[in-house]
Amino acid sequence: MTAEQLLEQAVKARDNALAPFSRFKVGAALITSGGKLYTGCNIENASYGLTVCAERVALWKALSEGERSFLRIAVASDSNPPATPCGACRQLLWEFCGDLEIIMGNASGVKESTRLVDLFPRPFDQRSL
Ligand code: THU
Repeated sequence: MTAEQLLEQAVKARDNALAPFSRFKVGAALITSGGKLYTGCNIENASYGLTVCAERVALWKALSEGERSFLRIAVASDSNPPATPCGACRQLLWEFCGDLEIIMGNASGVKESTRLVDLFPRPFDQRSL
């Protein structure tokens, strides 16, 4: 699956976002090294702090299905320039996926690509423990 196709999946996943409080909808599409796709959207609730980001929903779905090796993730929002994963998601993506390729885009076709190490230099992880 190309980066463009992965972003299309993230744009589609965004439709399911439950974001009545922020009205900021996000979709994510995570592809495993074996080519399996896991999507997610952000899910908010009345106790705001329990909100889960789209990236984490996709990641938890994949990990809970036994996946352990990942290639890239696409994140779709309505922002221009495209929104980047939040700090908490960067930490978790780093720990569970390593130096993932990250595609960020929106439904209007704006797309950027980077690697997690560039968004999250000098990470804290189990090597520090
Ligand atoms: N959000 C994500 O889903 N992913 C990000 O990378 C940034 C933020 C969500 C959380 C919340 O529901 C809304 O966007 C506004 O912060």
